[in-house]
Amino acid sequence: MRLLTGIQPSGDLHIGNYFGSIKQMLDAQGGSDTFAFIANYHAQTSGGNDLANLTMQAATDFLALGIDPEKSTFWVQSDVKEVLELYWILSSFTPMGLLERAHSYKDKTAKGIAANHSLFSYPVLMAADILLFSPDIVPVGKDQIQHVEIARDIAIKFNNAYGDILKLPEFKVEESVQTVPGIDGQKMSKSYKNTINIFGEEKQQLKTIKKIVTQQVALEEPKEYEECNVYNIAKLFLSDDELIDLQDRYTRGGEGHGHFKLYLADVMWEYFRPFREKRAHYHQHQDEVREILNHGALKAKNIAAPMMEKIQSVTGIKY
Ligand code: ADP
Ligand code: TRP
Repeated sequence: MRLLTGIQPSGDLHIGNYFGSIKQMLDAQGGSDTFAFIANYHAQTSGGNDLANLTMQAATDFLALGIDPEKSTFWVQSDVKEVLELYWILSSFTPMGLLERAHSYKDKTAKGIAANHSLFSYPVLMAADILLFSPDIVPVGKDQIQHVEIARDIAIKFNNAYGDILKLPEFKVEESVQTVPGIDGQKMSKSYKNTINIFGEEKQQLKTIKKIVTQQVALEEPKEYEECNVYNIAKLFLSDDELIDLQDRYTRGGEGHGHFKLYLADVMWEYFRPFREKRAHYHQHQDEVREILNHGALKAKNIAAPMMEKIQSVTGIKY
């Protein structure tokens, strides 16, 4: 079973990213053939300021969090140039209407973001990312389902012309993963500025956690936990026994939300400690990160190059 996913390098990762998507990918390693790449060409479509640094930061963070280059193929999109060639070829199998219906393009233009061609053709590049490697499954967030469906539509059109060459991918949305709330209780998201980052400074982390919105209840009173933002974030990190202990502390009374916040800060700091140490290592050894990425790109190319040869041959590009 081959899994493939792309990650945009978009700055500091938060715990919503971790529990909502990164952890699933890490858990799948070993059990399946996992392919993960940093989608730097995609990031360019939304401005791409400081892209080189963001790409290295994403690589460093993902390695620190547990992408294992022995178990997964991990590379930077632009290091496997075949993807751009396939992107062009697939463009001829992509009706304009298919792209005009893409939600992400419609949403962005509705928000007044000036449309350029790369934003419009983004789903074709994403189709090339996927179809080049013939994955069975593409794990994505809900907002990306339509893009995988577009990749399937393009693959069908291509196969109708040239035979059964491109594998039709299935998307997979992890339904069991709940939406991680931000410090204000809305969905945690960079765009809402309500995130708790994975790799912040300790003091800053505590400051952020102290800002989590909670009910006003007197110290001695019992407290409700099910709807409490502190509890709902803490439960991501706790074992069943620890969770029961925390529930007791809420219902017993005698402690305020401030205490629970301090507890959450501690728990979170310990949870990410090994990742933080690994990150510090990779941060000081960026040459190692580059080596891992180069090795990953070679592994990816070993699949991409013969696939592209086949496609060049059937399409007559190879003469
Ligand atoms: P942001 O909303 O902060 O810009 P992204 O859209 O870049 O985050 O999300 C990257 C990945 O993390 C996606 O797969 C998305 O589903 C997941 N993710 C982001 N925020 C959350 C959240 N609050 N809860 C669960 N998953 C999330
Ligand atoms: N568009 C995806 C996102 O914004 C990233 C991405 C690019 C991707 N190419 C991909 C995801 C291929 C899965 C497969 O999150």
